[in-house]
Amino acid sequence: MSPTLLPLISSPRHGSRSSMTCHYRCNNACDAPVPNESDNPRMRDLVEGALARRSVLKGGAVGAGALVLAGLGTASPAAAASTALSAKEARTTPNLGRAAFTPVAPNRADAVTNAPGFTHNVVIRWGDPVEAGAPRFDVEAQTPEAQAKQFGYNNDYVGVLPLRGRQALLVTNHEYTDENLMFPAGAYDDATIKKIAIAAHGMAVVTIERGRATGSWVRADHRRAEHNRRITGSTPFTVEGPAAGHELLRTAADPSGRTVLGTFGNCAGGTTPWGTVLSGEENFNGYFDASGPVEPSNATSFKRYGLPTTTATNRGWSSVDERFDLAKHPHEAYRFGWIVEIDPYEPESAPVKQTMLGRFKHEGANVSLSRSGHAVAYMGDDERGDYLYKFVSADTFRKGGSRAARTHNKGLLTRGTLYVARFSGDGTGDGEFDGAGTWVALTSDTTSYVPGMSVAEVLINTRLAADTVSPTKMDRPEDVEANPVNGKVYCALTNNSSRGTAYPTDEANPLASSMTRPALGAPLRTQSGNRNGYVLELTEHGNDHAATTFTWDLFLVCGDPEAPETYFAGYDKSRVSPISCPDNVAFDKVGNLWISTDGNVLGSNDGLFRVPVTGPERGNVQQFLTVPYGAETCGPLITDDQLSVFVAVQHPGETDGATFEAPTSTWPHTDGFPRPSIVVSYRS
Ligand code: FEO
Ligand code: CA
Ligand code: CA
Repeated sequence: MSPTLLPLISSPRHGSRSSMTCHYRCNNACDAPVPNESDNPRMRDLVEGALARRSVLKGGAVGAGALVLAGLGTASPAAAASTALSAKEARTTPNLGRAAFTPVAPNRADAVTNAPGFTHNVVIRWGDPVEAGAPRFDVEAQTPEAQAKQFGYNNDYVGVLPLRGRQALLVTNHEYTDENLMFPAGAYDDATIKKIAIAAHGMAVVTIERGRATGSWVRADHRRAEHNRRITGSTPFTVEGPAAGHELLRTAADPSGRTVLGTFGNCAGGTTPWGTVLSGEENFNGYFDASGPVEPSNATSFKRYGLPTTTATNRGWSSVDERFDLAKHPHEAYRFGWIVEIDPYEPESAPVKQTMLGRFKHEGANVSLSRSGHAVAYMGDDERGDYLYKFVSADTFRKGGSRAARTHNKGLLTRGTLYVARFSGDGTGDGEFDGAGTWVALTSDTTSYVPGMSVAEVLINTRLAADTVSPTKMDRPEDVEANPVNGKVYCALTNNSSRGTAYPTDEANPLASSMTRPALGAPLRTQSGNRNGYVLELTEHGNDHAATTFTWDLFLVCGDPEAPETYFAGYDKSRVSPISCPDNVAFDKVGNLWISTDGNVLGSNDGLFRVPVTGPERGNVQQFLTVPYGAETCGPLITDDQLSVFVAVQHPGETDGATFEAPTSTWPHTDGFPRPSIVVSYRS
C-alpha cells in the first residue's frame, strides 16, 4: 500500500485493508497483502553533573551519598538505570544476560506471557497522570488539556536514565493513536477527537522508582516529580543544525524557520552518552492533508516522501489546525521527519530538531563513540527499499559532568558528516550472505558532496540526495545500534514483501520468497518477498565507528526454523525460537542481542527474544516474552544492573474491525478497553 493511500482518520489503521495485522503507522506492513505495493562515557559523571545542575536549579543540595552507582564504569547509557541496588539484591539475583530460561512458546494470548520464572508489572498506562495537575483518567470525559498532562497513546521507545536514590527517569515516545479503540462511539465530536489525538502523540518523561520486588519498577508520585513532562503534537521545538532557518522550513506562522510546533510519528530512539534522548519522526507523511493541488515546486520531494501533492485527507488534522493543509502551508511538511533530542534532566529546556542527521522516515538514532571520541549516530529509514545512514560528529565528546561539558556535548549533533551505506556481496558460494560496504558521504555541515544540492538541501531532502549516490535499497531498516561489548553494529531489517519484484534481490537482501503461517499451528506456506526480516551484523573497519568502510553478514534470516531459508548464525535450528519481523534491538551487559518484533507472520503474537552474538551459543534465539493480542513489542531495555527488562506494549487490540465497544484485547485488563502501557519484567 502506498503511503499516500493510508486510511482516513475515521478508521485510523483499518480502513479498507483486509489484513488482520497490518499497521496504520508503518507504511510497509509486515504481512499486508501488498501485491503492488569502548569507550562509553562515564555515566557517573553524567549523573553527578545532572544532579549538580538540578541542585543548582532547585537551590538545594544533594548529598554525596545520595546515589549508588554499582557497576556503571562500563555502562551503556541506554541501559543505565542503576540506582540504589542493595548489595544483597546484587548478590542474590540472577543476571538477565546469563540467566537460563525456557523460551515462551508462540501463542495468541491477550496477556504479557513471561518465560517461566519471570513475572512483570505494568509501570504506566495510557491516561495515567504524568504532570502535576493531571486529572484522573476517565475515558468518558477525555479532554485535550487532560491528555496533554497524561501518559500518551501507543508508547514505543523506552529510555531509562538514572536520577537519584531508587528513582530513575523513564522516557518514552507516543508514536500514534488508534481512535477506534480510544473513544466510545458518539461520545465526542470530531474536532475534540483530533485535538485529543494531537495531545496523545509525542513523548513523556516519567519519574519511576524501584518497587518492592527486586527488579520491579513503579511510577513515582507525579505530584512531586519535578522532571515529569509531556511533549505533544503542539509543543514548541527549536530547530538546530545547518538547515535551521532555511527557506523551506519557513512558514507563515514561523517566518524564521527555527521554531516548530510538535513532534509525531515518534518511533524508536536512543539515549545519548551525554544523557539526552533521541527520537525518530517516522511516518510523518501520514499527518498531512491537502485541500487542493500543492504548489508544484514541492512535487518531486513530496512524492519521494509519500506526502500528498493533490487533494487528500490523511488524519484530517487540517480541520482543527490549518498548518496540516499542504495546499496552504506546503513548507510545514519539511519541518517533520527529523531526529529530535530532549533533555530529560532539564524539564524546562526546549526540545530540539537536529537537522544535521538528515530528514527521512527516521526509525530512531543510536549514538556510540568512535575511537577518537566522535559521536556516531546510526539510523534507519523505515521504508521498503530505503537506506541505512550514519552521522559522525565534527567535534569530540567531552567527559565530565560540568555544565560546560554538557553544553558542548549537546552541540555534537549539529556539526559533522552524514553518510549513507552501500553494500556489496562476496558471492553466495561461501554459504553465507556477507560482504563489504562503504559509507558514502552526502554532506558535511559546510560542504555538500551532492552536485546541485546545498548542504541544507541535502539535509532537508536527504532521500533525494542519497538517491544520486546509489546506496543499497534495504528491506526497511529499523533500529540500528552498536553492541557496547563487541563493537559490532546490529540492524533490524523488518521485512519487504516486494523484494524480488519491485526490488531486485542482492546478497544483502537475498530473499524473493519466504515461508509464513496463516495461523498459529497452520502449515507453512510460501509467499513472495522477504516476509520475516533479517538482522544484519556490521563490523566497522578497525572496529571504529568513524570508519568509512565495513564488512557485514546477515546474522539472522528470520522466520520459522522449519523454513529452509532461515538462518540463525549457523546455530542448530532445532533449538531456536521462531522469530518474525525484527524491529527494535537492545543489548545486555554481556553483549547479548535482544530483539523485539512487530507484525509476526507465523501466527503468533509478537515478542521479545534474547540471542548471544559470540561463543558457542551465537545464534541461539530464545523468546523471552510475548505481548498481548494485536500488540507490538517496542523499546526493549535491559537495565544496567541486569535485573529488569522494560518493554513498551504498543497498540494492544489493534486488529481489523476492533472498536472501543468490541475490542479484541482488553489488556492490561484494568478496563473494558485496551491501554498501551510500559511493563517491566523480572525474576519472580
Ligand atoms: Fe514505527 Fe518502523 O516502526
Ligand atoms: Ca557470501
Ligand atoms: Ca519500530
